[in-house]
Amino acid sequence: MNAPAPPKGLAGEAPILALRSVRKYFMPSQGLASEIASLWRKKRDVAGSVQAVKGLDLEVKPGEILGLVGESGSGKSTLGRLMCRLHEPDQGQVLYEGRDLALFSKAELKGFRAKVQFMFQDPASSLNPRLTARSALTEGLTIHKLGTRAEKNLKVNLLMEEVGLSADLASRYPHQFSGGQRQRLCLARALSLDPKLLIADEPASALDVSIQAQIINLLLSLKERRGLTMVLISHDLALVCLMADRLAVMYGGLLMEVFPRSLLGKVDHHPYVKALWASIDSTSKSDLILEGEPPDPQNPPPGCPFNPRCPEAEDICREREIRMIRLEPDRSCACHRRA
Ligand SMILES: Nc1ncnc2c1ncn2[C@@H]1O[C@H](COP(=O)(O)OP(=O)(O)OP(=O)(O)O)[C@@H](O)[C@H]1O
Ligand SMILES: [Mg+2]
Repeated sequence: MNAPAPPKGLAGEAPILALRSVRKYFMPSQGLASEIASLWRKKRDVAGSVQAVKGLDLEVKPGEILGLVGESGSGKSTLGRLMCRLHEPDQGQVLYEGRDLALFSKAELKGFRAKVQFMFQDPASSLNPRLTARSALTEGLTIHKLGTRAEKNLKVNLLMEEVGLSADLASRYPHQFSGGQRQRLCLARALSLDPKLLIADEPASALDVSIQAQIINLLLSLKERRGLTMVLISHDLALVCLMADRLAVMYGGLLMEVFPRSLLGKVDHHPYVKALWASIDSTSKSDLILEGEPPDPQNPPPGCPFNPRCPEAEDICREREIRMIRLEPDRSCACHRRA
């Protein structure tokens, strides 16, 4: 029997990664206990849990940079981790090249983990302080049994140079690097297994503005040179606009709007997107100022999560849950006023 055809992307391209109704709730306590409790609570009553990602669909197309934007706590990192199976979804599916990750064998998951890499939000804490740069960059190659010792050493030298670090620094420990250099090291580590998809969580937010620009340029040149697909996670719309081909805007664990960057400021956006855009664009005609606080993920408002801050909110927005509606071939929006 033929395998089912992979789902098609918005523009007819088969997505490299697709999330289908993916949900992730945590218990209010942090860490591993939360993760275990969350697994145990699959499909159970959700009262009192932290609703980090509330059941959403999203596709990553091959070769694109998808920018995932939203305020702190909107669920961006959780979504990024769901994409690469650092979190298991409570509900829904994550499809890689058309196949559900939940059905992958151990060997297939190992291959997936090489091809989909995640760069953590905090470069300092994601590097083992006891490992030199060389050891950090060799780890993945060793796990995947790639190359002899000499080949691995050569690969490490090339990786370091590719990200703009001298190979002479390979014997240094993470604390002997500057913040920007540590981020380059994280990038080299993520590239060591020649991934197809790189998920970069706030790759520049901990850095000075001048270093931020260097990291952004480096990511863009690597994308071109290696033909990488990228998910760029950031709370900073201005930064995402510099890099992304498409934007996915999150709020309160849900997607508010997904659209090509070329449409930004040119269509009747979701009010949340309008407010974000107004905050960075001096020519924006919108005088919408984002007041108030993001929703409490343990006690979100009924209806649209943005309704308490939305200047356009009507009764329906306070009563009925939102869902994504395709407004144009490549733009979807979750707003009752625009349905
Ligand atoms: N392991 C966890 N246990 C409990 N709650 C968690 C866990 N991870 C995330 N959360 C909660 O889920 C919600 C979404 O968190 P997430 O880190 O995904 O947001 P974010 O958009 O990445 O925020 P930021 O911009 O601050 O990084 C938050 O309320 C957060 O406290
Ligand atoms: Mg985050």
